[in-house]
Amino acid sequence: MTAVLHELSGDGVLLLRINRPEAKNALNQDVRQQLAMHFLDATGNSAVKVIVMTGSQEVFVAGADIKAMAAASPIELLLRQNQTYWDAIAHCPKPVIAAVNGYALGGGCELAMHADIIIAGENATFGQPEVRVGIMPGAGGTQRLARAVGKFKAMLICMTGQTFTGREAAEMGLASKAVPDAEVLETALQTARTIAAMPPIAIRQIKEVMLAGADAPLETALMLERKAFQMLFDSEDQKEGMQAFLEKRKPVYRGV
Ligand code: HXC
Repeated sequence: MTAVLHELSGDGVLLLRINRPEAKNALNQDVRQQLAMHFLDATGNSAVKVIVMTGSQEVFVAGADIKAMAAASPIELLLRQNQTYWDAIAHCPKPVIAAVNGYALGGGCELAMHADIIIAGENATFGQPEVRVGIMPGAGGTQRLARAVGKFKAMLICMTGQTFTGREAAEMGLASKAVPDAEVLETALQTARTIAAMPPIAIRQIKEVMLAGADAPLETALMLERKAFQMLFDSEDQKEGMQAFLEKRKPVYRGV
């Protein structure tokens, strides 16, 4: 069975659907490799403007595959080079939206946090329960989570392994917004279509500057922002966007 289903729509939205229902979409090497391959392909494919990743109505991803790592040695884990698969997602320059229904636990919560926007079902179940199986988060759970929700909530989540709902995730700043469970995918796709219609170079710069600036000193980050802002005035889409405003018409962006 294909572990990651994919579908590219005419408006530039690539939908990736993790499909390993027999193991609650747990991340084994097959899922990781296929996800990474799709993200690398999408990076080089100009027809892809926005990526939406999702699971099923019941589960986004229930974590790393525990059966596949229970007996592993540290060197085996090292040789699996899972970091390269995560990097393909983290370094994707195009906008990534996670549409989360059901369980987003451990590596699943971390996968969602690799996205730029998270649309969560109100009743989704987020958490970093690794501590309950004797380990700790290993793909950003102690870092991206703390940056998203702050040290004190992140410590509580990681040290107790307690889960929280999609609504709570949105309230604490982990999810961009929570919507009724049945509306998650359509909300994510609608958001993706909205972004896909925006000038792609500006979108790319927003993502690059926001991510790079987050871990830089404020002055450096503000300089990055200024340079990117100025650079956009060399794009045809900037001329088109402002001209269309002045002429009271809809802009037509070409990504140049
Ligand atoms: C391997 C898993 C799995 C996982 C579920 N399954 N989660 N297999 N790895 N993470 C398998 C079960 O073994 C079972 O297989 C089948 O999926 C159905 O799961 P059930 O437990 O029977 O379903 P349910 O009772 O509905 O409970 C769902 C659940 C629970 C709450 C999501 O499965 C669960 O707690 N899963 C583990 C969650 C977790 O601890 N995640 C963190 C993993 S560590 P069989 O063969 O019995 O039918 C991690 C580290 C990340 O993520 C490090 C960096 C990547």
